[in-house]
Amino acid sequence: MKSVLNGKTVVLGITGGIAAYKTPELVRLLKKAGANVQVLLTDSAKQFVTPTALGTVSENPVLTDIFPKDVQGSWTVHIHLARKASVFLVAPATANTIAKLAHGLADNILTNIYLALPPTVPVIIAPAMDTDMFVHPATQANLEILRQRGHIILPPESGLLASGLTGIGRLPELTAIVDKVNEVVAGAKGDLSGKTILISAGPTREAIDPVRYISNYSSGKMGFALASAAQKRGATVQLISGPVHLSPPVGVDLISVESALDMQTEIENRFIKADVVIMAAAVADYRVKSVSDTKIKKESSAGFELELVKNPDILQTLGKKKKKQILIGFALETDNEIEHARQKLVSKNLDAIVLNKANEPGAGFEVDTNIIRILPATGGIIEFPKALKTELADRILDFCLTLSEKNHV
Ligand code: CTP
Repeated sequence: MKSVLNGKTVVLGITGGIAAYKTPELVRLLKKAGANVQVLLTDSAKQFVTPTALGTVSENPVLTDIFPKDVQGSWTVHIHLARKASVFLVAPATANTIAKLAHGLADNILTNIYLALPPTVPVIIAPAMDTDMFVHPATQANLEILRQRGHIILPPESGLLASGLTGIGRLPELTAIVDKVNEVVAGAKGDLSGKTILISAGPTREAIDPVRYISNYSSGKMGFALASAAQKRGATVQLISGPVHLSPPVGVDLISVESALDMQTEIENRFIKADVVIMAAAVADYRVKSVSDTKIKKESSAGFELELVKNPDILQTLGKKKKKQILIGFALETDNEIEHARQKLVSKNLDAIVLNKANEPGAGFEVDTNIIRILPATGGIIEFPKALKTELADRILDFCLTLSEKNHV
């Protein structure tokens, strides 16, 4: 399965703090994400974790010395390894190593490799230590030097520390460290860097009066997952979303809208500059003909009729205008799904349509998982097993990337 870390080398420097005991699990998570992990261990780190454990999980020899005793003529290993690194991660980073990195001391394998890193290699430092050591002006000044140098400092968390005291200084959750590595590697040179992707998400709301509206059950989860994944892979992302209860994805330009007409305006304003447009929104097909300015009161009659007019089909309009853009639609169907999806693919002039069934368990609105099939305009059906929307977002983007490589977009 393709991930941002696939084939990338994470050089992980481990220093002598108690949190070092967690690092075999960190290595395992990085490996699971597809990375090749090369571990560097300082002498004090060996008090907390063994080279044997780390060598076993990383499946690479662990480097502990600048002059390895058993390999002849290999003292330039730090230069070669530094050049192979996609990212340099120090976790946990002690106050001592932070000071050495800040001031350019090179008295062990970790600090040597740090100095030999090409300037393009991103550096992430995860300090972990007792609160007093962390808040000490010397440590803070050293961290500031590293920050100014463009390195990423992952702030430690607060909680119970190994000393028995409570305060700031705990290593962040390992998954948060892996997320940061992913984000940094993707941003450094993601496979979607240079692309502008316009994504719509969520439902639209069509007003009836100041207190009522017509809408649908769309949660926006699929569109938000797509936006977040595209951003992590280096794209410039504009997310046009109807009303949802989701936090805006970091680094994404979020434009919130209410109605289908609002959504159309915002999308069309940005269409020309987009390389890829993915319409994951559940756009209401109809709106109320005349929206009441005042709250509609209960009539004495038993029934009540609303006159609806058709909303524009945003995607169809884009399909008519499209030049170089790759246009992807979504189809939510309950019956004759392939046939209906193909009709939409053709009538909206799309490059592909992502089909999901509304009535399958674990698919459709509100849930975190989905079952999708991609129908490309060139024919065929690409099937995917049920998976998290976040996972499927990457698969949809992989597909867009292959289309864009074919079309030279
Ligand atoms: N869409 C759109 N504008 C609309 C309706 C739909 O841009 N007014 C887009 C959706 O975002 C989706 C695709 O068209 O990407 C298909 O939407 P869907 O609701 O499945 O189909 P409709 O075309 O609305 O047809 P129907 O409701 O009859 O199934």
